[in-house]
Amino acid sequence: MMEATVESTIEQSADSLVSRPATGERAPVAEGETVGSPFVDSPKMAMRNVDVFYNDKQAIFDVSMDIGSNEVVSMIGPSGCGKSTFLRALNRMNDTIEGARVEGSLRLEGQDIYDPKLDVVPLRARVGMVFQKPNPFPKSIYDNVAYGPRIHGLVDRRADLDDVVEDSLQRAGLWNEVKDRLNQPGTGLSGGQQQRLCIARTIAVSPEVILMDEPCSALDPIATAKIEELIAELSENFTIAIVTHSMQQAARVSSRTAYFHLGKLIEVNDTERVFTNPEHELTEAYITGRFG
Ligand SMILES: Nc1ncnc2c1ncn2[C@@H]1O[C@H](COP(=O)(O)OP(=O)(O)O)[C@@H](O)[C@H]1O
Ligand SMILES: [Mg+2]
Repeated sequence: MMEATVESTIEQSADSLVSRPATGERAPVAEGETVGSPFVDSPKMAMRNVDVFYNDKQAIFDVSMDIGSNEVVSMIGPSGCGKSTFLRALNRMNDTIEGARVEGSLRLEGQDIYDPKLDVVPLRARVGMVFQKPNPFPKSIYDNVAYGPRIHGLVDRRADLDDVVEDSLQRAGLWNEVKDRLNQPGTGLSGGQQQRLCIARTIAVSPEVILMDEPCSALDPIATAKIEELIAELSENFTIAIVTHSMQQAARVSSRTAYFHLGKLIEVNDTERVFTNPEHELTEAYITGRFG
């Protein structure tokens, strides 16, 4: 019963999105230029002319955009358009892929994150990542959350670690469900709980930015609704970039939306604008379901 209600709510909002016609005039767009407002006044992260290659194959072409402090930005676009590739560039996760190469300028608070002198381990604590499939470590719930603070040496007393674990699980909306079984394996939780555990693990090291790559695509509508609620709460303290294949999700959680197409950043605009009156005809074609 519950499930049907959440599902139909999601479907209704989907209908209301696609049934609203995009009425604005769309001015001709210069080839290769991102339309809309890709830049903000005080960016947390600033990317300029970013190209990403897998060996000889280019997957991202000349992408420039900012992510503002405490904003939630969604990244949408057809499958294979480069959303995950671009997201991974933001904390150097592409470094772990053989043959991947990132060019251009990517800055976190003005600091070049591809500076060869920069240590990627603390970078990935500052810019954390939550993946499509929940991937708790084969450890207890407690140890999953304590892992980051331990390896980064953030706390030295057990009592402090307990506090960080409790606080992170609280903020991830999971504490009440797991407080009596912290020593049980994280992999024994439901899918939605596992994803919230992964979020707790990410926030336990107090990141500045959280990258989420389709964090709800393996979850049912109720677990999805919980994660979306959580994203709204987390955005008070963190900057969030979320890749989603769900336009409804982008509309619900984000203030700006970036539309990617064949490795290019076509449009970045206020989410409301993207879904009601996009500037670029490719964005319009996507949101009205002509491809995807
Ligand atoms: N590890 C990889 N090695 C080679 N090519 C890849 C790899 N990951 C992605 N690609 C290619 O890069 C392009 C963008 O992929 P991806 O970033 O996964 O898109 P999206 O997340 O939007 O679906 C695709 O053509 C894909 O085949
Ligand atoms: Mg992807």
